Amino acid sequence: MNMTRAALIDGYGPPQALRIGRVPLPEPGHGEVQVRVHAAGINAIDWLTRAGRGVSVSSFPAVLGWDISGAVTRTGAGVTTLKAGDQVFGMPRFPGLAGGYADHVTAPADSLAVKPGDVTHHSAAGTPMAALTAWQALFDLGGLSPGQRVLVQGAAGGVGHIAVQLAARAGAEVIGAASLGNHAFVEGLGAHEVVDHSASPVRDVDVVIDPRGGEEALRLLDVLSPGGILVTLKGSDARLAQAARARGLRVGFVYVAPNGASLANLAALMAEGHLRIAVEKTFPLEEAAAAHVIGETGHVRGRLVLDAT
Ligand SMILES: NC(=O)c1ccc[n+]([C@@H]2O[C@H](COP(=O)([O-])OP(=O)(O)OC[C@H]3O[C@@H](n4cnc5c(N)ncnc54)[C@H](OP(=O)(O)O)[C@@H]3O)[C@@H](O)[C@H]2O)c1
Repeated sequence: MNMTRAALIDGYGPPQALRIGRVPLPEPGHGEVQVRVHAAGINAIDWLTRAGRGVSVSSFPAVLGWDISGAVTRTGAGVTTLKAGDQVFGMPRFPGLAGGYADHVTAPADSLAVKPGDVTHHSAAGTPMAALTAWQALFDLGGLSPGQRVLVQGAAGGVGHIAVQLAARAGAEVIGAASLGNHAFVEGLGAHEVVDHSASPVRDVDVVIDPRGGEEALRLLDVLSPGGILVTLKGSDARLAQAARARGLRVGFVYVAPNGASLANLAALMAEGHLRIAVEKTFPLEEAAAAHVIGETGHVRGRLVLDAT
């Protein structure tokens, strides 16, 4: 049986549970392509899943990772949009397992987009989950329109640094919240104002993007104008929804899903230089555990990426 290299886990556990091993080379099914992964992005859901607090894993060993960028090596039956050699990126199969921390994955062709030539595999691998989430939060749920005020919490993080750029480009007045050491970075992304996470002086906001949920999301209701909306990335929360309703406010809950067409729109923005993905650090695939340790500090600027070349 043909095999491929992967960073895998034999059960839920700490970062050290990640080990390099070999798994069967995945074969593309109908409508799927096989991709030689050059880089895999690391998301919060990766370390949550590793620890048993994210996506439920039905059998081990399991290969984590959703965000990938690489080259198509084979096409399955029925694939007409991609061919061997195409450079692609995406976050296939989420919330099912995709096995992105590997030299090869298979993916539904319609969950991928062609990577712009000028964008590196590292940047592209850092894009899909964070950018699709930011887009859904700002526009699909938040309904952000030109001239509105938006507060992006965690503005230096994976989702946040993309949300700031997309919102500024859409003509919104963007307030980014970040730790002091990240203020200049967030300003450079196009934020009109940068504040600390406590955001106490901020008021009259139309849309808030909340990456934390819980008490912090409840507190953030205070910054909204009447009729404003808080979009949280932390899943549904009946208490938050009720608190918002009682104050004439609205809440949106993001559940990101693969979307090759939206990804192609984001790729166009990247190709035109309107969206840049900050990669704080790259690690060889063998050092996936070290990358998780850093990710879990909760203070990464932009994205962490594994190199699988
Ligand atoms: N619902 C969905 O479909 C979905 C999809 C993607 C992500 N998510 C969730 O969205 C959240 C953000 O994801 P991400 O990839 O952007 O994570 P991330 O890159 O790991 O976030 C790191 C950022 O969090 C910031 N941060 C630290 N303390 C904070 C605070 N008190 N309030 C606000 N931000 C703070 C840090 O900013 P400083 O270093 O400046 O302090 C850092 O820039 C995660 O919880 C993730 O699970 C949900």
